[in-house]
Amino acid sequence: MMTLNVELGDRSYPIYIGTDLLNQADLLTQHIAGNSALIVTNETVAPLYLQQVRQHLGAIRHEVVILPDGERFKNLEVLNLIYDALLKNQFDRDTTLIALGGGVIGDITGFAAATYQRGVNLIQIPTTLLSQVDSSVGGKTAVNHPAGKNMIGAFYQPKAVIADTNTLNTLEDRQLSSGIAEVIKYGLIRDTEFHNWLKEHMKALLHRDPAALAYAIERSCKNKADVVSADEKEKGQRALLNLGHTFGHAIETGMGYGEWLHGEAVATGMMMAAILSCKMGNISEAAVCEIRHLLEMAKLPVHAPEALTAKGFKKLMAVDKKVQNGKIRFILLHAIGEAYITDDYDDKLLTDCINNSYC
Ligand code: NAD
Ligand code: GLY
Repeated sequence: MMTLNVELGDRSYPIYIGTDLLNQADLLTQHIAGNSALIVTNETVAPLYLQQVRQHLGAIRHEVVILPDGERFKNLEVLNLIYDALLKNQFDRDTTLIALGGGVIGDITGFAAATYQRGVNLIQIPTTLLSQVDSSVGGKTAVNHPAGKNMIGAFYQPKAVIADTNTLNTLEDRQLSSGIAEVIKYGLIRDTEFHNWLKEHMKALLHRDPAALAYAIERSCKNKADVVSADEKEKGQRALLNLGHTFGHAIETGMGYGEWLHGEAVATGMMMAAILSCKMGNISEAAVCEIRHLLEMAKLPVHAPEALTAKGFKKLMAVDKKVQNGKIRFILLHAIGEAYITDDYDDKLLTDCINNSYC
């Protein structure tokens, strides 16, 4: 097992990464402060892993909420089911919420933890690659609004993240690729060495080679932990973690939540950001081709959906959380491994990118 730390003073917490962690009672119970806990999971993950987690809570009063599965259920209505369970069981401020599942469960449970009685303990047990490398770490919690992805949320850090890589064995291939999109993101924004490693090891990742997966998760979490420790509330460099997300969130919202997986939308969004960077003279066409090749190797989409017009895209992107004084801000590339944030772009070039016109 490897342990990384997110350094945030007295709110610092460990990320445990390894095999068979769901069978290690102490990893979980040492982070439960009070004598009650609510496990939040969904109808897909519950039959797979709920019992393994539940068996460790013997002495603790605990309940389970099983939510419907899917991005389209990451909303205020479903969030209410968590509050209902907490109130029905008279769980107090010392209770601990345990998020068992992918990023949807992590985000909605995190927001419930941030808001129930103004904040209760939270433990993240991510079970998808995407949630192990990204969403469970860093404290962003949210639900979607019909008009915009993750528009209602809070920064709220967990007490611990327990990433058992065995859980990835039951993940569908499409979901694995979706997680790889966020892995590729770290290389593109700040870790050239990792980017080069990914070029060599993409096949191993797709074949779920345990050593390759473990390395990719550790390196991704290390990148994320470093960024979050330096800029928890996204006043500066944390925004770089949103490479591809301005385009990607527009795709997710515009196409209907769940049609495109988050990682798929981010992959296409990163491609669009790379093309815009190229059109602005920052990176070469060869670099764009290299990025496209890596995304395609990971079996990720690289073309914006034709159903979304440039006008529609821009309208959706105007609801992005990085919009400042009415201007969309994009994360672009100076080079592979070096991202920056800017609101200085040519609208015509942006339209070209959306229309899939390559550099
Ligand atoms: P997800 O939570 O929908 O999980 C994907 C699918 O895999 C679901 O059907 C789920 O039930 C299933 N699943 C989960 N674990 C499984 C397992 N071990 N075996 C088999 N099936 C399993 O999607 P995701 O990709 O994990 O997360 C995407 C969400 O994360 C989006 O809502 C996105 O906005 C959010 N996100 C948040 C952050 C953040 O910083 N908070 C970062 C990135 C993404
Ligand atoms: N996934 C982007 C962030 O956590 O900041």
